Order: sequence, then structure tokens, then C-alpha cells
Amino acid sequence: MLSAYVFDAYGTLFDVHAAITRHRAAAGPDADRFSEIWRTKQLEYTWTLTLAGHYVDFSKLTERALDFAFARIPSVDRGLRIKLLEAYLTLDTFPDVHKALTGLKARGARLAILSNGTPRMLTAAVDAAVIGGLFDGVFSVDAVRSYKPSQKVYALVTDSLRIKPSDAGFVSSNRWDVMGAVSFGFKAFWVNRSRVPNEYPDQAPEQEIPSLTALLDAAG
Ligand code: LAC
Repeated sequence: MLSAYVFDAYGTLFDVHAAITRHRAAAGPDADRFSEIWRTKQLEYTWTLTLAGHYVDFSKLTERALDFAFARIPSVDRGLRIKLLEAYLTLDTFPDVHKALTGLKARGARLAILSNGTPRMLTAAVDAAVIGGLFDGVFSVDAVRSYKPSQKVYALVTDSLRIKPSDAGFVSSNRWDVMGAVSFGFKAFWVNRSRVPNEYPDQAPEQEIPSLTALLDAAG
């Protein structure tokens, strides 16, 4: 049994496409493509800026990526800008989240979040989902001003919780984040809900799981 489980936030606990889902009718027929571009650009900015030695917080990058999506897909009404950014603060959790977190907690595991999100974004999302009481720590990359998969980001949580990477499970739906966590030495679980093809063969996860509740089977 692993002593701690560290969860990625966006895409793993919180559905990043829930913002557009709430405004789908107003967004029109290009809503899904728009949301994909928003997410892809948001992540791309984290990687490119980190590689070049810069840091701009995730809230600002989320806004900049949204503005790129509006420019790229003119059919989506820019009047939705504020509503989509507000929705991003209170994204829905995936249906398997509560059961998995409460089950692991009941088995005695310590739980944490490690995310690119700013402290303010994470507090808002965790409060809206009413899951804050389950966590021993909610860690933002903001403390080290670098983004995943920079190895110093993963060290933030092991240093703070005083755990060894090999004693902790790292749980993410983002295969590139799993790559970073495996490189750091975590026992990584890749949550592949939408059955996307595997990547990064040299940094394989401990286990690929179809949903978070499979963690309860793995925990025994
Ligand atoms: C996060 C990114 C991966 O929450 O979305 O860290």
C-alpha cells in the first residue's frame, strides 16, 4: 500500500471541458474544437515559457490561450470570455473523483494535489467541488515558478510531505505529466478515461487505469 497519492488537477480531477459544456448552446457548432484549442495552447505556453526560462502564472496563461482560441475560431462569440473564465474557477469534477478520494482516505493514505494552477484557482476549484477536507496539501507550481514536467515541481510535494517518491502514487490523465512523474521516481498511475494512444514508451506508468476508482483495487 502506498502511503500517499498525489493528484494532478486539470484533466484528472476537474474536467477542463466543463466550461464550454456549460455554455455549449451559446458557443455554437465549433464549441468542442474551440475548447481543445484553448486547452492545447494553455499547456503549450507552460512548456515553451518554462523552456525559455520565463514564468507567467496559469491564470494569465489560461486567459491568453482563451484569447487565442477566440482569434482562431471567430464563430464563437467573444461575449462568452468572462463567463468561460468564471466557469474555469468552478469546473466539474469527473464522476469517479469522490468515490476514489474518500476510498483512499478511508484506507489511511495521505492525499495531495500538485497542479499548474495558481493557489487561487485551486482553492476555488477544490471549494466548489467540496473536496478540500480530503487533502493533506494542495500544491501549486507557483511556489517554484516553473511548470510540469520540470522535476523541481514534483520535488515540491515530496519535500513538503516528507515522503520518498517511490512511496507515493502520482495520478494524472495527462500522459506527459505521467512521463515527468515517472522520471522523478513516483509510482505513476495514468488515468486513460478516453482511451487515447499511449506515448513516452521510455517512461511507462506503474499502471494504466480506466478510471480513478481503479486506484481502490490497486490499493487493496
Ligand atoms: C495541472 C495541469 C496538467 O493541473 O493541467 O497541473
